[in-house]
Amino acid sequence: MLKIKDLFLKFNDKVIFKNLTLNFKENEITAITGPSGIGKTSLFLCLNQMIRYEDNYSLEGEILYKKDNKYISLLSINDNDLPCIRKEIIYVSQHPDLLPLSIYENLSFFGKAHKISNYEDKIIKVLKKVYLYNEIKDSLDLKASSLSGGQAQRLILARALLLNPKVLLLDEPTASLNEDLALKIEIMLKQEKRTIILISHFKSQIKNLALKVYSLEDYL
Ligand SMILES: Nc1ncnc2c1ncn2[C@@H]1O[C@H](COP(=O)(O)OP(=O)(O)OP(=O)(O)O)[C@@H](O)[C@H]1O
Ligand SMILES: [Mg+2]
Repeated sequence: MLKIKDLFLKFNDKVIFKNLTLNFKENEITAITGPSGIGKTSLFLCLNQMIRYEDNYSLEGEILYKKDNKYISLLSINDNDLPCIRKEIIYVSQHPDLLPLSIYENLSFFGKAHKISNYEDKIIKVLKKVYLYNEIKDSLDLKASSLSGGQAQRLILARALLLNPKVLLLDEPTASLNEDLALKIEIMLKQEKRTIILISHFKSQIKNLALKVYSLEDYL
């Protein structure tokens, strides 16, 4: 589904990784591990090509993405074709990046922008999926900034699921959740028929979810 070949990334003169060769299988969960600052989030920015907005980076190698049964090169894809790729490869940040709008509008904005059919119904469905609906169903018109850290984290996960991505890049998706909720989210993710790449510091979570684990420490 996604293949990284001999990827080399540096910021200014600092090499983040080199000779990175990873393979992500369709509809499987693959985990990425490694200590803080090693380059996990930077790898995700390479995968959805948000890296193009960073300064002073140098990226070489190849990232191949299977679209309509043929592999396309994400590094050589035209800027104009990127929105279509980013709708399929969605990054859920470790820092919830909510719009300064209401809770509901944070979902409906993306539903409208991506022309999702019946997005009103789907919004309820994804909020239930991330165990947020009961907590916020009476306050959907409140500002999203009024949500707690754990609620905001579940809202951006719901937003990503609303767009029905082919590949979900999850950066520490349960870091702000209590153990019970984290387990519920894990079970939900395991049931998703989707290619998921998961960054996680939790060994038990990786063991529960991932069929394959890559440690970025091996590519220093
Ligand atoms: N735009 C940038 N310019 C310069 N250096 C950067 C940039 N983005 C990231 N870095 C550096 O690249 C390295 C990897 O950062 P990254 O955020 O990918 O780490 P991480 O593995 O996700 O860490 P954490 O587990 O703390 O989230 C860090 O040393 C960071 O300072
Ligand atoms: Mg990170």
